[in-house]
Amino acid sequence: MNASVQALFVPFRLGSLELPSRVVMAPMTRSFSPGGVPNAKVVEYYRRRAAAGVGLIITEGTTVGHKAANGYPNVPRFHGEDALAGWKQVVEAVHAEGGRIVPQLWHVGNVRRLGTEPDPAVPGYGPMEKVKDGQVIVQGMTQADIDEVIAAFAQAARDAKAIGMDGVELHGAHGYLIDQFFWEGSNQRSDQYGGDLAARSRFAIELIRAVRAAVGPDFPIIFRFSQWKQQDYSARLVQTPEQLEAFLKPLSEAGVDIFHCSTRRFWEPEFEGSDLNLAGWTRKLTGKPTITVGSVGLDGEFLQFMVNTDKVAEPASIENLLERLNREEFDLVAVGRALLVDPDWALKIREGREREILPFSREALKTLR
Ligand SMILES: Cc1cc2nc3c(=O)[nH]c(=O)nc-3n(C[C@H](O)[C@H](O)[C@H](O)COP(=O)(O)O)c2cc1C
Repeated sequence: MNASVQALFVPFRLGSLELPSRVVMAPMTRSFSPGGVPNAKVVEYYRRRAAAGVGLIITEGTTVGHKAANGYPNVPRFHGEDALAGWKQVVEAVHAEGGRIVPQLWHVGNVRRLGTEPDPAVPGYGPMEKVKDGQVIVQGMTQADIDEVIAAFAQAARDAKAIGMDGVELHGAHGYLIDQFFWEGSNQRSDQYGGDLAARSRFAIELIRAVRAAVGPDFPIIFRFSQWKQQDYSARLVQTPEQLEAFLKPLSEAGVDIFHCSTRRFWEPEFEGSDLNLAGWTRKLTGKPTITVGSVGLDGEFLQFMVNTDKVAEPASIENLLERLNREEFDLVAVGRALLVDPDWALKIREGREREILPFSREALKTLR
């Protein structure tokens, strides 16, 4: 193993959390859980990645126990005895391989449409009401709805701890519910949950506090956030390091242990005048460990693959990534598609077998291997 690749395989420790490597599996919705229950194939899918050197698995987005949390078919639930029993099997298989795992707790918010499982009559729920052709397609959330959703996240975190998960990740990115509150494009509320970014962060802050209270001081909480939104790839929550600091500080104080900074290309500087990416800035400004992500080991970014396309992303050098990791710009590296298509990605990197790494195409989404 050459010296700089070694950096990816140095254990990471934060309180009670010990990771055997710096390689993190990025959360990726796979839609292979009929009835919302992770089955034996899902167990095997995650086990293989842990066996091949992934230090921390962040599961695909898994829905909290609120009637409008889900937006897509065959997404695993994180509530209900059957689904939690399925997840427990995943946890045990990953632990048996020496890996660590956290669920990504998810509420899709206003992205949900009528007709979606589990109850097709339930519309989306979001910061603002949306009406189309005289029909409410998104319910504007009342205080009672907000309290209910926060309680659902807290319960999911409690359940994560009870079934042996190593922490939780809260999905605060990509234009889903928590992010819908952050972003002025989707939040023009006139109550205490709307206004400037500090006020628009109130929902997330209350939610993080409730999760922290549910799990106690030592259970790791990872918070994923992004500037970009599904609804607008060029959207930005903050324009300057000062604004980023003002945004992150209250989240950090509310109980976040690790920030997961979602970008599409990890090498892009976040602000002019510095080489630091979003994870680099976040680490510097909060003093908390960070996870970087975005086109690690591949030559094409992931949104190109969300539409029908026959594009292939070829394996790419991770030299630049290793340089940044070595100078401690960030602590952990999340890998998405490269690990989706190739369960042995981390092992091949570790053993200098880059030439054997598989390219990524949409074909890989069709199976769970
Ligand atoms: C098939 C697929 C499903 C995804 N599902 C999720 C998800 O459930 N939650 C999430 O936060 N990000 C999700 N993402 C984004 C990834 O976590 C990651 O940020 C993105 O793929 C960029 O990393 P990459 O370039 O290494 O693939 C998904 C990406 C892909 C390709």
